[in-house]
Amino acid sequence: MDPTTGSTVRTAGLVRQFRTGSERLTAVDDVSLTIAPGSVVALTGPSGSGKSTLLHLIGAIERADQGTVTVDDVEVTALGRADLARYRQRVGFVFQRYHLLPALTVLDNVVAPMLPRRGRADHAARARELLDAVGLAGRERALPAQLSGGQQQRVAIARALMGAPRLLLADEPTGNLDSATGAQILDLLLDLRDRHGMTIVLATHERAVAARCDRLVRLGDGRVVEDEDLTGGEDPADTFDRASRLRL
Ligand SMILES: Nc1ncnc2c1ncn2[C@@H]1O[C@H](COP(=O)(O)OP(=O)(O)OP(=O)(O)O)[C@@H](O)[C@H]1O
Ligand SMILES: [Mg+2]
Repeated sequence: MDPTTGSTVRTAGLVRQFRTGSERLTAVDDVSLTIAPGSVVALTGPSGSGKSTLLHLIGAIERADQGTVTVDDVEVTALGRADLARYRQRVGFVFQRYHLLPALTVLDNVVAPMLPRRGRADHAARARELLDAVGLAGRERALPAQLSGGQQQRVAIARALMGAPRLLLADEPTGNLDSATGAQILDLLLDLRDRHGMTIVLATHERAVAARCDRLVRLGDGRVVEDEDLTGGEDPADTFDRASRLRL
């Protein structure tokens, strides 16, 4: 994998509303956050509190009604269509349900986001490397239905890494998994951060997952109700000591 450094993410006054019948529901309500490069941030909060919507806004999968998302020097909320498409390809997104294509092999699922781009042979080589990195070497020709939930989640993570993202957004990456498998997926994400410095924002319901992140942001009714630094004042970019400590 290419060495990368993580993105800085800023949201300012971010608002997203949905119309439900005649009512307006504010799913994300005035969220302003600055996320340091190379940090792993857990978004927590009850079901319906806006975690997925916030990730979708940061990943430009949904548009904001008010406020801005800025990633490094780019104001994502001001981009036009072509630039938005390029931005989406550079950000890794792991969806709440894996969103694998059932008729495609594991390898083709990982390569899928790259198909519009040139260099298919290179893409397949990179996809193999990534599948190896997530512990799925040898399963390239399997279909998603032949894999366990944890293995499917690894495929989804490998796919999200195809564009060598500096920012990885993961919606409940351990949500459908037993706690041991979930812990392995989190190990994998933390290891990716340690080795490549990428910034990771993940949504989770699980206390044990949030506790291993650098920062916990709790949402309630679309607002930030708690924002806690879990690093003990360490620079999140300085990951080596932290990596060994986390594995204790
Ligand atoms: N496309 C949509 N249309 C209408 N309402 C929506 C839509 N997407 C989300 N919502 C509403 O916005 C609120 C926030 O939803 P969101 O999916 O962000 O919550 P969440 O914190 O991710 O919940 P969960 O933990 O269950 O995944 C909810 O009340 C939800 O019903
Ligand atoms: Mg959600």
